[in-house]
Amino acid sequence: MRFYNPSITLLNYFAIDCKKCIMSLNLYLILYLGAALSQLHAHKVDWPLDEWKIIDPGFNSKTHEFKETIFAVANGYLGSRGTFDEGTPANTNSCSGTYLNGVYSKHAIEYGESAYGFAKENHQILKVPDGKDIKIFIDEFEFKAQLDHVDNERYLDMSTGILTRVIILKTQNNKLLSVKSNRFASLTHSNLLCTEYEFTPLNFDGHINIQSVLSTEEHNSIESDDPRVAELSLASSLELYSHYNDELSTCLVHKIKNTPQSVASAMLHQSCVNFTVEPQASDENNSKTRLKINVEQGKKYTLSKYLAYADSLDNAQNLQNTVLEYLKKASEIGFKELSQLHTQKIVSFWQQADVKIEGDISLQQAIRFNQLSLFLSVGKDGKRNISAKGITGPGYEGHYFWDSEIYIIPYLTYTQPEYAKSLLLHRYHSLNKARDRAKEMSHDTGALYPWRTIGGEECSAFFPAGTAQYHINAAVAYAVRCYYRATDDFDFICQFGGEMVFETARLWLELGHFSSYKNNQFCIDAVTGPDEYTAVVNNNFYTNAMAKMHLLFAVEIAQLMQNKAPKIYKHLCENIKLDENEITLWFTAADEMYLPHDETLNISPQDDGFLAKKSWDFKNTPKEKYPLLLNFHPLVIYRHKVLKQADVVLAMYLLDEEFDIELKKNNLAYYEPITTHDSTLSTCIHAVEYAETGDSERAFDFFSQTVKMDLDNSHNNTEHGVHTACMAGSWIAIVNGFAGMRVRKTGLFLSPSLPKEWPSFSFLMQFQGKTIEIEICKNDTKYLLKNGSELSLTHFNQKIILKEGIKHIALNQTTGA
Ligand code: BGC
Repeated sequence: MRFYNPSITLLNYFAIDCKKCIMSLNLYLILYLGAALSQLHAHKVDWPLDEWKIIDPGFNSKTHEFKETIFAVANGYLGSRGTFDEGTPANTNSCSGTYLNGVYSKHAIEYGESAYGFAKENHQILKVPDGKDIKIFIDEFEFKAQLDHVDNERYLDMSTGILTRVIILKTQNNKLLSVKSNRFASLTHSNLLCTEYEFTPLNFDGHINIQSVLSTEEHNSIESDDPRVAELSLASSLELYSHYNDELSTCLVHKIKNTPQSVASAMLHQSCVNFTVEPQASDENNSKTRLKINVEQGKKYTLSKYLAYADSLDNAQNLQNTVLEYLKKASEIGFKELSQLHTQKIVSFWQQADVKIEGDISLQQAIRFNQLSLFLSVGKDGKRNISAKGITGPGYEGHYFWDSEIYIIPYLTYTQPEYAKSLLLHRYHSLNKARDRAKEMSHDTGALYPWRTIGGEECSAFFPAGTAQYHINAAVAYAVRCYYRATDDFDFICQFGGEMVFETARLWLELGHFSSYKNNQFCIDAVTGPDEYTAVVNNNFYTNAMAKMHLLFAVEIAQLMQNKAPKIYKHLCENIKLDENEITLWFTAADEMYLPHDETLNISPQDDGFLAKKSWDFKNTPKEKYPLLLNFHPLVIYRHKVLKQADVVLAMYLLDEEFDIELKKNNLAYYEPITTHDSTLSTCIHAVEYAETGDSERAFDFFSQTVKMDLDNSHNNTEHGVHTACMAGSWIAIVNGFAGMRVRKTGLFLSPSLPKEWPSFSFLMQFQGKTIEIEICKNDTKYLLKNGSELSLTHFNQKIILKEGIKHIALNQTTGA
């Protein structure tokens, strides 16, 4: 049984889902009160300091569910929460689950009051049968979670990517058994979740029984009327198609309700010693295997458990064979080799992307945790993206947002460009759905990407903070530009990027207009910018500025393709019926783009009406009233000058060349005091902008908040998944913030400054197929080109040419002057 935790019911977001629309007012009040209480009773974990490990300091029922997120294992395809194998301790919240990224169930959105064009169906990341359950018996004595433990150790080794747990169990008649388990979701065999158990009887001979279960039963049956949480149940999304059992393996095939898809889950055991399999009553919800191992005191006995998952549009019968094949392969390779292969991937990842912070183990630990989580959460095959919560929990229903394009793709571009490309390909594959959505939104041409989705259709049931965020289109173009500038991958532009950028660029002309009321400047009305505490406004500065960037980039690549690949370009233009007049219009709209400016304050108004609004009474808003979205009706918030997250300030960073330092400083000084940072996407951007404008103290403070957001559970909802955009943001704060890294049309630029708290920091980055190691010390920066013959970059104003293997030392200057 699970104790109701209100924070899952109130996702940190306005884009609340469908059923919420029909919830009674009473239920709202109960939920809101509950959420406020959870804020007051947030429990933090004091993580022992270790550069390469996340060590569980010990069981605590209040933080157990949160640690299930932190100790989740994943590989981009599947993710499984760090629940205890033996079950959840009594009186403890738990949210068990194994999820498949990009695989989802569909549910009709029920609106109390619907309207034309509202999103019709919601997608939910698929929760599949969990197979982590292992029950251990000695003389029919069953070990119960936490009760029978005399010792309990758990840690994630970030250098190997393996989660280890060691427990010592004690029966009532004092028999002691040590159980060590190692678990990972394989990075080389992405359908596999592998666990190896090592049993050591410490003071007895005899036998142990192990009951292993692959189950559709859930341990987190929530005692709540909240319909959204209920929807996360397996039963509501899966329908059993077939059930297979033999001596060693078990397989369940389910059809995913309301979709043509099926999913298969299977398990297999392998041991170094003979074991006997005892028949067990299994039903279609529980496939049980009971193994008996004869043991001698002091000897080690290993048992490997492989779980395989696969999904497909194929017929379900094939799927069964597919997963059983995966299991057969796993047992042929064996746990040891599978884990070595997995670790090799982790090692090469660090060789490509590691960030080193000298002098602060806690921050070092946190940045590594964030980077590793991103690596394990990102879809790697072009068919899936990265969800806002990774594959670590049910938060945000596994949806993909602009988080991918503005935060995660830039990070991946400079660390693992192949995965940045993979995420872009995922967007490309849903371009047709974006075209359909544009039509549905009454646009004659072009494509409109959904604000939140898994399968490509708009799933946001709350349009003011959903569909109205048209800036998602510019985010896609920005990500393509970022990837292209850093990789020179012109083939990508020809095959995919060009089409995506053109089709999405078209929409600005559909949406905006040359307004006679504003000197015929190009205006965009009724949109929502990144700040979700201000909705459906005219001329959101961020949206207009990003639309301008988007249109100019579209013109740039149209010219480039015309020159470098005329045939492909012609073919594409014919296909999407694009002509020169339209491109000329893009240029004119960009050139005439209206960007709000207030002469008196010398700031950029967030939109046409923002500055005239009433100020928010911050002084009389107590701590427990944050996040505001949980405590005030959206309209109350919309009427005030109050921000959820960086908006104008984000534009200052993303479009850095467009604005001077004075404007950046003024905008920061104006907007930061009225920003709540209620979204985890906010603090990192402030860190970058404070670093750029020379306020290193504030930059450091915002960075520290960002990098430990999940380990500190500072937003009190990490129990339902990590915050992937914020995690990428912590890297952005270091590299784009402290190191001042920018990639412009004219190349790579750095203007580093060292936070006074650190003796030095260094990072590896990928640029145009080359790896550069950059170490920032107080007075100088050391550049080392690790591969590739040479590379030029600009350090402050100085041009530098790096030669492979030769360290270049350049003196630092003061930034933000
Ligand atoms: C933020 C959005 C973000 C979403 C998912 C919301 O709280 O306001 O900008 O896309 O979370 O991370």
